[in-house]
Formats: sequence, C-alpha cells, structure tokens
Amino acid sequence: MDQTIVLVGFMGVGKTTIGQALARKLDFQFIDTDQRIEAEMGMQTTDIFRVHGEAFFRQKEKETITQLVKKKKTVLSLGGGAFLQAAIRDTCLQDGIVICLSLSFDGWKERLDDLLPTRPVLQGKSLVEIEELFYNRQAIYQSHHKKVVTDALTPEEVADEIIEFVL
Ligand code: S3P
Repeated sequence: MDQTIVLVGFMGVGKTTIGQALARKLDFQFIDTDQRIEAEMGMQTTDIFRVHGEAFFRQKEKETITQLVKKKKTVLSLGGGAFLQAAIRDTCLQDGIVICLSLSFDGWKERLDDLLPTRPVLQGKSLVEIEELFYNRQAIYQSHHKKVVTDALTPEEVADEIIEFVL
C-alpha cells in the first residue's frame, strides 16, 4: 500500500497530530497543506485571509492539494474547509484514501480558545454561530472512505485504527 492517505475533518480535530503519528508508523512523508501554503506564501493563514481574501486562499488550497494527492507514501492533512470544493473532494477520493476524523462538539469546544488566534474562519463569531458552522460542515466530511470518531482515542490509537483499515 503506497497510496496517499488524506485526513479530513473540522478545524482542530487533530488532523496534524494524528497525521504525524500515522506517517511515522507507516514510514510515509507527512504534509500539512496549510503549512505548505504558508511556507510558499511566507505568510500565516490569518494574514493570507486578511491581505488576499478567502477566495485566494481557496484557489491556492485547490492547486496545492490537487498536486500533492498524486504523491505516493504520503499522509496529507487538509485544512478543514478544503472539502467545501467539489474538485478537491473528487480528486482526493479518486487518488487517495480519505479518512474523516470526527469529534463531538462538546469535545471540540474545549479546544476553541487554542484555535481562535490562528483560525480566521472562527474569528468574530459567537459560540452559537461556531456550533452552527461545526454542524453545517459535517456534510462535506461525509465524502470519505473511512470515518474515525476520535473522542475516546489517543492520536496513536487513531493512527492504529487507520492503519488497520488501509493495510
Ligand atoms: C479552515 C481551516 C484551517 C485553514 C483555514 C480555513 C476552514 O485548517 O485551512 O484557516 O475553513 O475550516 P485546519 O482545519 O487545519 O484548522
């Protein structure tokens, strides 16, 4: 098995932490697409949104992911909004193994304070609006090959469950 494993799910569900553990266990390369875009642009995501706008970021996201999903032996962690674009969903489902990481809103809420400074999509929203976004977004994560509910699992355990599925 050398296909790219694509991790999707809402902001802060642990895509990066779990992806790193998974890549280490499989001896795959790990790439976080947000970090890749930030390095290319020499800017943080919040600044890309502020200076260039969300549409620009989404275009960059599409180009980056379309290219990276073709790689082999790679774990790709996508930004939580990437699957809003049908073109990204389609290419990932076709060329990669898509794993949806899911967390309950109660579990997720505890991470909110840590996420706020670096997540432009959450900024200026009330908790009710954020909860609405959380539930509305679940529809796009339904495009997957496997879903793992992470509430009661450590990142290592989630990685093991993914490995059992892909091997
Ligand atoms: C976004 C999620 C972020 C990042 C950007 C937009 C979103 O990625 O791509 O801030 O729209 O959900 P993470 O899921 O890694 O936080």
